[in-house]
Amino acid sequence: MKKIILKTENLSKSFSSGGSLQHVLRNIDLELYQGDFTVIMGSSGAGKSTLLYALSGMDTPTLGTITFGEQVISKLDQDELAVFRRGHCGFVFQQIYLIDGMSVMDNVMSAGLLVSKDKKAVLTKAKELFAAVDISEETQKKFPTQISGGEAQRAGMVRALINSPEILFADEPTGALNSRTGMDVLDTLTRFNEMGQSIVMVTHDMRSARRGNRILYLKDGAILGECDLGKYESVHQGMSAANSLQDDAGRQEKLSAFLTEMGW
Ligand SMILES: Nc1ncnc2c1ncn2[C@@H]1O[C@H](COP(=O)(O)OP(=O)(O)O)[C@@H](O)[C@H]1O
Ligand SMILES: [Mg+2]
Repeated sequence: MKKIILKTENLSKSFSSGGSLQHVLRNIDLELYQGDFTVIMGSSGAGKSTLLYALSGMDTPTLGTITFGEQVISKLDQDELAVFRRGHCGFVFQQIYLIDGMSVMDNVMSAGLLVSKDKKAVLTKAKELFAAVDISEETQKKFPTQISGGEAQRAGMVRALINSPEILFADEPTGALNSRTGMDVLDTLTRFNEMGQSIVMVTHDMRSARRGNRILYLKDGAILGECDLGKYESVHQGMSAANSLQDDAGRQEKLSAFLTEMGW
């Protein structure tokens, strides 16, 4: 049995525009599970980012309840949410905002020290994560302006994971990247998911979406359907590159059929 890590009940979000209310999320009842790589798809304007912001405590819902782990976050105020997010959520956006005036390592350390006072433990974790994303000690000492876009994206992931978040949230993480760097980011996300990191990613890109095991399709602010793709198998011991490619082709076919059914 999978463990539920996040649950929404009757989640709704409305914005007022020009005197009328726009209902962007409509009565969403959703359960997310630990260890899943959940993907939220849907056309532009469907409410994907709004949903991600609500789930991650970046924004508050208009109506409904969000239970994150044991905590009901939908009733927290902005200050309480900010503290909650630091300890429980990691974020990867299209644009990585590293602070220019400090080294890559200090960017990560400062995020870690907001939550933990144990500097040694934070440093150990940072080194472990940098190694996992293949960022050398030399690169860690550089400033954000001195590293490549791909390195910045991976450093951003290290910062996102420094506080061991229950969920890593990603909104179109490959949207601004060239295809090779984008693939790199997907491989890194996949690797962290294989190590047990729960991920929720918004994307409209099929290549990105196939990395997930559970695909949700959002339309007009409601979940229209979902598709179980099973876990993505990256190339590792026991699986040849040919098998991996075949697996990916099978996933693509299944995802295409699902998206067609959803009216994509
Ligand atoms: N802060 C906001 N104020 C007013 N309207 C918003 C706001 N955020 C999103 N919206 C509206 O909600 C709808 C869904 O937006 P969004 O969640 O960004 O969609 P998606 O990520 O699926 O493209 C859009 O029509 C957008 O204009
Ligand atoms: Mg969006």
